[in-house]
Amino acid sequence: MSSEDSIVDRVSSFISENKRGIVIGVAAAAVAVGGVAYYVASSRGTSGAGDEESLRSDKKKDKRKKKHKKTVRDKDEPILEERRPKAAEVSDDDDQPLTEEQIAATPTELRPEFAIAVQYYTRAIAVSPQPEPVFYSNRAACYVSMEPPQHEKVVADCDEALKLDSRYVKALNRRATALEALERYEEALRDYTATTILGKFQNDAAGRSVERVLEKISKKKATEILASRERRLPSHTFVSAYFSAFRSRSLPTLPESPSTGDNTLILALEALGASDYAHSLSLVNEAIDQGISWDLGKAEALNLRGTFKFLTGDTDGAKADLEESVQLVPSLTQSWVKIASVHMERGDAAKTFEAFEEAIKHNASDPDIYYHRGQVLFILNDFGNAAENYVESTKLDDTFVFSHIQLAVAQYKSEDVAKSMATFRRTLKAFPDRSEPQNYYGELLLDQQRFQDAVEKFDRAIELERVKNPPNVLPLVNKGLALFQWKQDIEAAERCCNEALRTDPECEAAVATLAQLSLQQGKIDVAVRMFERHTELARNEPELVNALTYQYASYAQLEFIKHYPDLASQLSQMARSMG
Ligand SMILES: *[C@@H]1O[C@H](CO)[C@@H](O)[C@H](O)[C@H]1NC(C)=O
Repeated sequence: MSSEDSIVDRVSSFISENKRGIVIGVAAAAVAVGGVAYYVASSRGTSGAGDEESLRSDKKKDKRKKKHKKTVRDKDEPILEERRPKAAEVSDDDDQPLTEEQIAATPTELRPEFAIAVQYYTRAIAVSPQPEPVFYSNRAACYVSMEPPQHEKVVADCDEALKLDSRYVKALNRRATALEALERYEEALRDYTATTILGKFQNDAAGRSVERVLEKISKKKATEILASRERRLPSHTFVSAYFSAFRSRSLPTLPESPSTGDNTLILALEALGASDYAHSLSLVNEAIDQGISWDLGKAEALNLRGTFKFLTGDTDGAKADLEESVQLVPSLTQSWVKIASVHMERGDAAKTFEAFEEAIKHNASDPDIYYHRGQVLFILNDFGNAAENYVESTKLDDTFVFSHIQLAVAQYKSEDVAKSMATFRRTLKAFPDRSEPQNYYGELLLDQQRFQDAVEKFDRAIELERVKNPPNVLPLVNKGLALFQWKQDIEAAERCCNEALRTDPECEAAVATLAQLSLQQGKIDVAVRMFERHTELARNEPELVNALTYQYASYAQLEFIKHYPDLASQLSQMARSMG
């Protein structure tokens, strides 16, 4: 870490990249099918000198065309230089200049040359024996250029043009721009999407517009959803990953004559131990309402309630509870570590590391502190320092499986593959009954495309989880992914994900994977349902924005298929070739 600034930069870029929050117990290889929503990918993938070149040559072509065309009082406005009407051109007779009267009737705020052109096209539309989309589109271009631009009229004219020729890309693009200006983002996205697809993804500007509008929609919707929705706990898989990232501690000793609230707190902690999270949550709220009689009990209760608040996305509430907890008992290092997580979730790296220092000040021999500081460093791609922290954590207590696993993953990320594999093999031997080393070792094997070995590890992990209630379903999802990447066996992959969802209907990894698999097959309607589900499950703003991006991208593709059914097969072909 060279300076604080650079950490802050990395944190904010981390947040903006929508990667997984640090709260996940293990930040190993991320779940990814390989293809993202394909046109988002395609519009990003093809920038570079080649495109510049093709853009420039397009412009040259435009200029060449211009020379052969009748000009329309256009003052070098290329937008007026569109394709020629195929038939029924305005005859020269009709192409007469406007009368003084007509010009006088033009509203003064309009730029006169465009007002004149508008009248010209209006006349052309009126006299043309058969309707010509180009007249509407060109008149729309005039409305765009007026001061102020007449966006509503642009939309109306493009509607007409597109009724006559649904593949009129210029009119589509023009309408999209006007709709965007009118903040009718979903319709703008529909049109930009069509522009992109009809242009066979070669139009860089349209691709960028898709991304830009998608971002506007997703951010807006995410804000609305977060403001209105009830807070609730995420999936069992998620919550249990969070809690298992802390070593278990013994229950606090009750005072001589415990109050009702004191006893309820013990029940809440016992429910937590039994992974009954919903019950634990309601019990801890009850305990605090009933009143807890001693400081350590209060601090533990606030730690637990703050954790649940954090998990439901209420970071302000979480911070308040956790801070109150350490005010009562400053040596409760777990609360300090969680305060660090809250700062990290907010993208405040400086405060994150301060909270870890504070924890160390109170108890330098708590191994959890180093594990979690390792996680933060890992997310910041500082794998060397992350590894040191995992080693420190293991030195203090070597029975915690995740410090071993994360060390191996950090070594892998530092491109020390041999060391990483050795760490994994030692971990597998030291924890023969744990599924996690199998699962995460499998992920690394998958990353190396050692498919058969990976599937074996996932199978072993699935077997070890089977005896648990409820089992962790991540190895199942991973197996599905492996089968897909290995043999393109989409059906088997879907079976694995569906089985995972039968156990944990809220497993985000399974939902996201199913969505991507459907997209790959061009089953956009199924993908849309899955993305909607993913949006429901998203826990915080970055996750929500990410899920909404896919959801609205898919809506726009569905719209496209509805309007251009004959191009639907082409679309799914493109999806496959990009995956
Ligand atoms: C420090 O943390 C360790 C491990 O959690 C614990 O055993 C020890 O009692 C703690 N010390 C203090 C002073 O709280």
